[in-house]
Amino acid sequence: MSENKKMIAPSILSADFSQLGNQISLAEEAGADLLHIDVMDGHFVPNITIGPDVVKSIKKSTKLPLDVHLMVEHPEFFIDHFVDAGANWISFHTEACAHLHRTIHLAKSKVGIKVGVAINPATALTNLVNVIDYVDFVLVMSVNPGFGGQEFIEQSVGKIKFLKEMLKKTKSKALIQIDGGIDESNILKVADAGADVIVAGSSVFSNGQIKKSLQALKKALS
Ligand code: DX5
Ligand code: ZN
Repeated sequence: MSENKKMIAPSILSADFSQLGNQISLAEEAGADLLHIDVMDGHFVPNITIGPDVVKSIKKSTKLPLDVHLMVEHPEFFIDHFVDAGANWISFHTEACAHLHRTIHLAKSKVGIKVGVAINPATALTNLVNVIDYVDFVLVMSVNPGFGGQEFIEQSVGKIKFLKEMLKKTKSKALIQIDGGIDESNILKVADAGADVIVAGSSVFSNGQIKKSLQALKKALS
């Protein structure tokens, strides 16, 4: 296990949306560190989820910091709206940004927000070398974005290790977030590889035992 305290960020994508407030409370009570909110536009990914108004309502119902993962084209149009709605952490995809440097700086201009760049399984980390100094975290996708409940792409473990080395070389303090296919069987492996923030959707929300499932993940991590 590596040095920093690891954080777990349950992803509400797999929650029962008719019971959202209650399910978020259960995750909070069970010791979630952040709440991961997946925003999908039906263009960048073949699925549609939620907009800023829902984030605004969630903000009223929890004390957890909100971690908004934008899987949208033109994230520069949406950053303001989600920050105003209550996002504390915000990430967007390098694949969706023609002018990634500009978009990062736009997001960084929102004071107090942690800004992250997300990267798909097929995209090389070397694409990020020129921006790594500016971000607070890098979100490594360990499934292709768009849906919960997909199988973890094993190659992601090596990707986390490579990123950890990249960050060390540049003396960056950016955190590594991993997202997709995390469960009790692989959470320790990604943490040991260097992930600081671990997103878990279906392994927390899918079996109707939110507290038990989250506590089991925390136990597997310790
Ligand atoms: C996928 C999303 C993930 C998703 C993870 O596009 O970005 O955050 O909710 O779900 P699981 O943990 O089920 O793979
Ligand atoms: Zn996500």
